[in-house]
Amino acid sequence: MRALVTGGAGFIGRWVVKELLTGGHEVTVLDNLSAGRRENLAQFLESAGFNGLVEGDIRERELLARAFPGQNVCYHLAASINVQNSIDDPGETFDNDVAGTFNVLEECRKNNTRMIFVSTCMVYERARPDGGIDEQHPVRPTSPYAAAKLAGEALTLSYHHAYRLPAVVLRPFNTYGPYQRTGGEGGVVAVFTDRNLKGEKLTVYGDGTQTRDFLYAEDCARFIVAAGSRYGLSGEIVNAGSGRDITINELTCLICPEKERIIHVPHIHPRSEIEKLVCDWRKAERLLGWKPLVSLEDGLTRTRNWMEMGVTGR
Ligand SMILES: NC(=O)c1ccc[n+]([C@@H]2O[C@H](COP(=O)([O-])OP(=O)(O)OC[C@H]3O[C@@H](n4cnc5c(N)ncnc54)[C@H](O)[C@@H]3O)[C@@H](O)[C@H]2O)c1
Repeated sequence: MRALVTGGAGFIGRWVVKELLTGGHEVTVLDNLSAGRRENLAQFLESAGFNGLVEGDIRERELLARAFPGQNVCYHLAASINVQNSIDDPGETFDNDVAGTFNVLEECRKNNTRMIFVSTCMVYERARPDGGIDEQHPVRPTSPYAAAKLAGEALTLSYHHAYRLPAVVLRPFNTYGPYQRTGGEGGVVAVFTDRNLKGEKLTVYGDGTQTRDFLYAEDCARFIVAAGSRYGLSGEIVNAGSGRDITINELTCLICPEKERIIHVPHIHPRSEIEKLVCDWRKAERLLGWKPLVSLEDGLTRTRNWMEMGVTGR
């Protein structure tokens, strides 16, 4: 395949690029480096299949028109990903995640490029007490981020229906691992592991009983690449997660055994919180032969070891 990865200099995008190159595919990255880093791609510069980074924005249609010809598949990950930022500045999230996705779809349509839209588990209503969230589970956009992703999903599926464009919607659950940013806009694992290593306090929003299903970055990348490599998947929505949820309180204790360094503060966006998220990934197994391979304990150790090495990306 010749693949274009939007957001490929970001955390998950970088792992998708690695997985594609390992599979012998040709890869071009398009990223405006607003959150991604050139250094995340440094190790691929000498790879035979790596066709380089186009530094540019999915909101620029002329730039997209130059980048798309000849691409068989587009893995679309470029997005504003932060819930709180989307509440503070919904216009920015709309422009990137809705208008930007529309621009990407238009180029897919013109160039007959398969569209793999990377959405998120944050579109879902909380899990029921007795089971995981499958793809039939109700959605509930509790933040402009979730709403923008749902709009991107709807646009993607509409191109499948109206134009027969091969297009798939993926909903990975909370993803963590090396190369995730450790600032406030990073994921909770990256933020807490970094603070723990620095001997700082770990701040939990709310009472910490909210749960998440954590997916290791390499498992996530295998899932995304598999979805783009498989024909006949068009029009589908597919989840990926570990199938196990854990409260933020439990996660904090796994990362930092010193209880006195864990503090609870009032939630910054209680109305946008999703109390329980746990994935039912059986559809991914059925359609893609995919399953998660890295346990949370193993993934946390890998993330910590990587941070201790002080590798770029922190
Ligand atoms: N991190 C998670 O837990 C998670 C879970 C489910 C889905 N996702 C989705 O996966 C994708 C990647 O997330 P991530 O965690 O790697 O985030 P990230 O912020 O590390 O990656 C996003 C990348 O997109 C780039 N970007 C943003 N706006 C752009 C624009 N207008 N034009 C070009 N590039 C732009 C950024 O520079 C960055 O490199 C996102 O679509 C996100 O919604 C993430």
